[in-house]
Amino acid sequence: MTITTCVFDAYGTLFDVSAAAREAAQAPENAAIADTWATLATNWRNKQLQYTWLRAIAGTHIDFWQITQDGLDWAMEAQNLHDPALRRRLLDLYWELKAYPEVPQMLRQLKRMGLSTAILSNGSPKMLDAAVTSAGVGRDLDAVLSVEEIGIFKPARAVYDLVGDHFHCTQGEVLFVSSNGWDAAHAAAYGFATVWVNRAGEPMDRLPGTPHRVLSNLSTIPDLLLD
Ligand code: LAC
Repeated sequence: MTITTCVFDAYGTLFDVSAAAREAAQAPENAAIADTWATLATNWRNKQLQYTWLRAIAGTHIDFWQITQDGLDWAMEAQNLHDPALRRRLLDLYWELKAYPEVPQMLRQLKRMGLSTAILSNGSPKMLDAAVTSAGVGRDLDAVLSVEEIGIFKPARAVYDLVGDHFHCTQGEVLFVSSNGWDAAHAAAYGFATVWVNRAGEPMDRLPGTPHRVLSNLSTIPDLLLD
C-alpha cells in the first residue's frame, strides 16, 4: 500500500531531549552538573516516561508538562541538586528544545514529495507549539496531534487512532517514526509501517510489534518512500 502520511514522535525523535541538560551544564553557574548532566538527562527522561505509563495504567492523567516537571524534580533530588534557578533554566530549555540537525531538511523534502506530515506526541499542545516554533518546522507540518485530546498517554491504541481520525487514512497508509523503541513496537503492532530511529544503538524492545526498519537518524526517511 502506498504511504500518504508520515507521522513523527516528538520528544527524542524530532527534538533532542538531552539538549536541555547539556546546554545548561555549559554555564559557569551550573558547574554542579558539568560532569553529571548526562545522568541527570537520562534520569529525567526515564522518570518522565515511567510516570506516563504509570498514570495511564492507574487512570490518573495529568498533562505532559506537569509530568516533565515531576520527572525533573525526581532526577534533581537523586543527584542532591536543590537549586531553583537551575530547575527553572532546565525547564526553559526543555520548552524550546532544539530539533536534531537533519529534521528541517527531511520534513521539507517530505512536503516536496507531496506527503502529509504530522507530529503525534504525549506533549501538551502548548509545549509542542513552543518546540515546533523554536525549531522553525511549523510550515512543513500539516498537523500537531497531542494526546491531550483524549487524556491518555502512548502506547494506548486510542493515541494511534488520532492519526486516522485526523487524516482519514488507513493504518497501512501511515509511516510512523519514533526513536522510542516501545513506541515504534506498539505502532507496528497497531498496523502502521514503522521506523525505529535507534540513535543510541540500543537493543530492540521485547514487545508485541516489530518495527519494519531501523535507522540511526532521520535523514534517509524520504528515501524509504521512494523505494
Ligand atoms: C512523545 C514522547 C514519547 O513525544 O517522546 O510522545
